[in-house]
Amino acid sequence: MPAAMPTATPPPEHLRQEVQNVLIGETEIAERVRELAAEIERDYADKDLLMVALLTGTVPFLADLMRHITLPLRLDFMGVSSYGDGTAPGELVFTKDLRLEARDRDVLLVDDILDTGQTLHAVLGKLTDLQPRSLKTCVLLEKTSRRRETVTADYVGFEVPDEFVVGYGLDYAERYRNLPFIGVLKPEVYS
Ligand code: PRP
Repeated sequence: MPAAMPTATPPPEHLRQEVQNVLIGETEIAERVRELAAEIERDYADKDLLMVALLTGTVPFLADLMRHITLPLRLDFMGVSSYGDGTAPGELVFTKDLRLEARDRDVLLVDDILDTGQTLHAVLGKLTDLQPRSLKTCVLLEKTSRRRETVTADYVGFEVPDEFVVGYGLDYAERYRNLPFIGVLKPEVYS
């Protein structure tokens, strides 16, 4: 079950021109990430866990999540990007393949956000072809309103409304990934 959405608060002074509000603050993110890690630990005890993270937006989430998992695990990355206009998904391009063996391993695919489902659908197809023992997905955020592919995540941090969210890895035109919170971008920035 995704966590309930905290009350939106104003962004720090220096971001007020661009960011409408903080949707999920640092404390809420940290708490939820710990909970997700605990769930994963329970489910993957005695398994051969291979975490596969999707570049690029997953980096802060992955770094925090994996440090709360005490089980032995392997980590690898896949590069995939949707070249849209910044607001709508476009053509999917794979930029990096897995380096480690996925066959007969318990693969947990980690991404920052599940939106239309185009990315996870394509990546799950590729990973399934590699014949892992099991294959599950973990996303920090989920937007359900724009789903185009039938794909669900097994672990979800927060369900978010259909707004342009940035920060904690998520970008607009490659910016804002370094914000420590999830914020809503002002429409005038991207329209
Ligand atoms: C973003 C995000 C997800 C995907 C979700 O990736 O990181 O992978 O879009 O959208 P979808 O469910 O509609 O496919 P993006 O292609 O922007 O790459 P990035 O991680 O480098 O920002």
